[in-house]
Amino acid sequence: MQLHKYEKIWLSFGIASLVFFLLLLGYGAFYKGTHPQSHAETIDPNHVEANVSFQPEHLGLNKIAENRYVVNIVASTFNYDFGKDENGNPVKNIRIPKGSNVLFQVTTKDVVHGFNAAGTNVNMIVEPGYVSSYETVLDKPGVYTILCNEYCGLGHHMMYATLEVYE
Ligand code: CUA
Repeated sequence: MQLHKYEKIWLSFGIASLVFFLLLLGYGAFYKGTHPQSHAETIDPNHVEANVSFQPEHLGLNKIAENRYVVNIVASTFNYDFGKDENGNPVKNIRIPKGSNVLFQVTTKDVVHGFNAAGTNVNMIVEPGYVSSYETVLDKPGVYTILCNEYCGLGHHMMYATLEVYE
């Protein structure tokens, strides 16, 4: 079979591109250990407390250093569990000083939920069996509504909380 000169060039170009992208993918995935942002960590949805982050005393806002926070949340139909305040009432508002570095870790006990702090770049899908995490710097003061943006049943619209970034 006789290949035309241009055919050969384009064929080689095609194969070279394929090899290049496979190498790039392999380098990212295996050498650098890059994984998608969320869903890297698995969890037993029936025993979320087995993960220390989701034990009752670690739910909600945790200050880990100056200007560094971790917020742990357990979603379930139709609630976000941010733990309890000093009076034993469920926490529904998280207050974080402006400019803080915050890691959000969310899991669910039952069905797929969303976790979106509207107006910020915090927006995750939360699936049973996984911990969804997202780290960000909150530098715009305001009160942001956290809502579920995955339809999860009749009480879907009741799943909300607020995130307050203060000066
Ligand atoms: Cu949870 Cu919609």
